Amino acid sequence: VNASFDKENARRIPQSFHGVFFEEINHAGAGGLWAELVSNRGFEAGGPDNTLNIYPWSVIGNESSISVSINHTSCFERNKAALQMKVYCGGLKPCPYGGVGISNPGYWGMNFEQGKRYKVVYHVKSETKFDFQLSFTGIDVIKVASNTRHVFGDKKWKRVETIVEAKHTNHYSSLQITTTSEGTFLLDQVSAVPLDTHMGHGFRNDLFQMVADLKPKFLRFPGGTYVEGDHLQNRYQWKDTIGPWEERPGHFDDIWNYWSDDGIGYFEYLQLAEDLGALPIWVFNAGISVHEEVNASALAPYVQDALDGIEFARGSPESKWGSVRAAMGHPKPFDLRYVAVGNEDCWHFNYQGNYLKFYEAIRSANPDIQIISNCDASSAPLKHPADLFEFHIYTDSNDMFSKSTQFDHTSRAGPKAFVSEYAVWKEDAANGSLLAAIAEAAFLIGLEKNSDIVQMVSYAPLFSNINDRRWIPDSIVFDSCKLYGTPSYWVQKLFIESNGATFLDSTLFTTSSNKLIASAIIWENSTEKKKYLRIKIVNFGTATESLNIHINGLNSNVQQFGSTKTVLASTNLMDENSFLDPKKVVPQTSSLENADKYMNVILSSYSVTSLDLLI
Ligand code: AHR
Repeated sequence: VNASFDKENARRIPQSFHGVFFEEINHAGAGGLWAELVSNRGFEAGGPDNTLNIYPWSVIGNESSISVSINHTSCFERNKAALQMKVYCGGLKPCPYGGVGISNPGYWGMNFEQGKRYKVVYHVKSETKFDFQLSFTGIDVIKVASNTRHVFGDKKWKRVETIVEAKHTNHYSSLQITTTSEGTFLLDQVSAVPLDTHMGHGFRNDLFQMVADLKPKFLRFPGGTYVEGDHLQNRYQWKDTIGPWEERPGHFDDIWNYWSDDGIGYFEYLQLAEDLGALPIWVFNAGISVHEEVNASALAPYVQDALDGIEFARGSPESKWGSVRAAMGHPKPFDLRYVAVGNEDCWHFNYQGNYLKFYEAIRSANPDIQIISNCDASSAPLKHPADLFEFHIYTDSNDMFSKSTQFDHTSRAGPKAFVSEYAVWKEDAANGSLLAAIAEAAFLIGLEKNSDIVQMVSYAPLFSNINDRRWIPDSIVFDSCKLYGTPSYWVQKLFIESNGATFLDSTLFTTSSNKLIASAIIWENSTEKKKYLRIKIVNFGTATESLNIHINGLNSNVQQFGSTKTVLASTNLMDENSFLDPKKVVPQTSSLENADKYMNVILSSYSVTSLDLLI
């Protein structure tokens, strides 16, 4: 096989080509990136009518010592549910277990680490004097600070706030609130958060870093189908996710079937994008859920919500919604330049009509905002105006490989393409296999080749808590304290230098295999102030290939010292990473002794090879 890479016809790959798509799926946010340890912190998860469901809270005590129920007299206006505890023991009738009360395991165990500090807050109201004990299973904590100098028992809601330091480590602890006092107590909005989060913004450090390592240039959020809901009443409504955490109602997402306290809300997503150095891409509901939709005549409140959401993100601090953002601590507007009208909604009867209403309203109020349509224009033109169109693909590995040519014939006159979700799935991917990753690498090379029309690309889904893998595979798998990247994650990492890089013309002259694809870029390592010619080659075939490389039109020399070869391969096609072996399938880098303008490389079967030639 011969390949030739040429500077002629070189062009720039868009600066924001590779990004990430964050969806609240698989407990990606609640019980994931969002560091809150308590689940169902306001006891709202049962909904307004359900007085029995306090999941995942459980009762400590027996029937003769305690009973609990939900009542709706909380001091928080938008989330009225509170837990009522009737305690029948205390005083002359000592309570069992050293105290009765409630316990919360968080999201499959709370991670407490020795020496780290945690802020614990709860709200309580009682008619009688009482003692409350706060503890965590399996560890001791030291109380570092507390505001509990209140007078309790005066029938008023009190906020109790304590900073504790863990004396031991327990990755799977539970929070317990217990009492030995007889009486009736109301409890609401209970939170425990590590003080050590990314920039104090509430993001779990290890998970944040894993995303930051991908150097994403955009962040699409918060879904996915999560935005739509199975039914409209369960759609994502940004206005319910902003403001003080205690006052957020939370919502049940009937697509991925779990409750979210909405600790990670619209503001936090925008903050996340800013912290990552990524442009936010906000996906809002288009008046369409999976099983229900409204038509353009009933769309006005949805359009207003979208306009208000844009104003919240980037309006001046004096504007109506910009002032709400400013009050949350971010007077400076966020850099919102892109919005997507719905998610995967093009097939719905009302999409085109609804889309136009959003388009006209947003265009007229915010002429500079880039508007993204859900309708695929890779093979036929759109029926409506748009700045970008979306393309989603979940398929098997052979088809993914062949889709590397998907945009070869797309009209260059229309809107740009945003490949906002792609992944190999089902049998070929299992839980995240090498095979899937290799095919995805080929697809990404195809997108790079078409980066004059493809503007952005992101894998999906980004995260999965291992205890709730509703959608497999994913990029990053974690539990309360551990994480690993799947081979697909590592492929994405091999492509991050393409953002803003110079794309070179390349030709593959193959004799034996039609399972090879290659591309070349020139990128600059700004820290080291060094320039590299990077050649990426995917061998999706069963045979080892010998590749002769010719680099034409390059003025500078290729330097052997400092040039490297990085290979992603493994013994078995279906090899995966896991908590036990998190780096089983990761790229391996070695120096490239024969680096030159004319050189030979051996490509093992089912591999991605990335050569960095120092120039
Ligand atoms: O990424 C998982 C799901 O796949 C998204 O929610 C949806 O947009 C797509 O169908």
